[in-house]
Amino acid sequence: MNYLRDLWSSLSEQTSTTTTPSSSSSSDTSLNNNSTGSSGSPAGVLFNNNGNTELILATGSSSSGGGGSSGLSRLIFSLSETGLTLLLTFLSIKYLFMPLLSNLLNTNNKQTGTNLLPRKKRKIGELIHKCLHLENPRKDDDSYYISLYERYLNKYEKIVADFLVLPEDLDNNFDDIGGMDKLKKEIYESVCFPLKYPHIYEGNSSDSTSIKLRMLPKGVLFYGPPGTGKTSLAKAIAKECNCAFLNVKREFLSDFLYGETEKLVGALFSFATKVKPCIIFIDEIESLLPSRQASYQMHEVSKARISIILSAWDGFETTSDGDQVMVIGATNLRSQLDTAALRRMPLQFKIDAPDRNSRIQILKLLLKNERVSPTVSFEKLADATQFFSGSDLTELCKKALSFPIKELIDREIKSKTSMANIMPRELMFDDFMKARQFVNPSCLEEFEIPMDTDRIIVD
Ligand SMILES: Nc1ncnc2c1ncn2[C@@H]1O[C@H](COP(=O)(O)OP(=O)(O)O)[C@@H](O)[C@H]1O
Ligand SMILES: [Mg+2]
Repeated sequence: MNYLRDLWSSLSEQTSTTTTPSSSSSSDTSLNNNSTGSSGSPAGVLFNNNGNTELILATGSSSSGGGGSSGLSRLIFSLSETGLTLLLTFLSIKYLFMPLLSNLLNTNNKQTGTNLLPRKKRKIGELIHKCLHLENPRKDDDSYYISLYERYLNKYEKIVADFLVLPEDLDNNFDDIGGMDKLKKEIYESVCFPLKYPHIYEGNSSDSTSIKLRMLPKGVLFYGPPGTGKTSLAKAIAKECNCAFLNVKREFLSDFLYGETEKLVGALFSFATKVKPCIIFIDEIESLLPSRQASYQMHEVSKARISIILSAWDGFETTSDGDQVMVIGATNLRSQLDTAALRRMPLQFKIDAPDRNSRIQILKLLLKNERVSPTVSFEKLADATQFFSGSDLTELCKKALSFPIKELIDREIKSKTSMANIMPRELMFDDFMKARQFVNPSCLEEFEIPMDTDRIIVD
């Protein structure tokens, strides 16, 4: 049923161009009638739309004469030409009424955001209440807040609501990110402070020049090797500023049809303004906005999609509704980002592999609740982990911790004694050195050189 629903949705987009299934000569739609057996009845019907959509109504090979077929296949094979025509006519009607039908089907679709938990709906309702400056907060009235969610969000904004993480549900904060002190300070000053205290940046509202000079940053890019803490930092900002966090992943838009892009991207920004302060975090932003200059073979549809996203972004940037809404992009492949997208993120931070001092701090942080022998030198560990990202160091510690546990497992198996009251021994330097053989550093390769270094404030 879901398959059919998706198919119908996809066909709804092409209602204007798709011919009825019976027009087999169309280049978009083809109809294959495979004669089967002696009856000559069609066994398979295939609609192929630009290679994207296929519907096989009835398939099957029949032995000649069909003597061994099951009752069901005999029923299918015995469909007369008239029956088939009727079926095709029925489907044609559906295709003609696809926009309407698609809307009806979508009301039950999981993508409409109706599967959100009531707690989350209520929370979103509370944010809407605050943003609209409505009076009389009704603290205990769940249904009031849920009704705000239902009434003030359109269908597409409810889809976007699925990507929302509430600040209280975020588990990262700045203290959980080891090292990178200079970078964290820069981020706090240029991103967190304006988000927390927008009034300081608004200046004198009657004087437009002062607003321009003290503009709130609206586009920020984190770029650098994988596992260096870009996502963690974006979440920490949202937590610190008590911001709603819209976690847009690369799948965003991929489940949707081209015709829905505009509405969905528009909804991304309009939803953010309804629950602000809000961070729109776009992970792997180069996959959503790849360079149009670099890929000559990019399909026109993909180029058009990029333009739609960029113009929606512009639209939101120029309205005052966009205050306290910030887009943070993250990428490992900055050079693959569209240059127009890069321009929309003038504040750029290179999140590089942690230096020696940061590695010491990260290791201490990761191991703060573990039993580590006092003989373990964190300085030596840092020396042995050059080019390790924060994520690599996490893996290293996990692997090192597995050795004392493995010893207990072996002991239990060999001596058949219970380990109920026994704890693993302390971690030794050797555990880390053994673990080192299992974890490869991610930041070995020289990271790509930025193209327009003048825009980068932290390096
Ligand atoms: N500086 C750091 N301190 C502590 N943990 C870190 C640090 N950098 C990365 N990590 C850990 O590595 C993992 C991946 O980090 P993430 O923020 O997703 O990296 P990125 O987004 O750059 O790929 C997370 O579990 C995170 O806790
Ligand atoms: Mg990430």
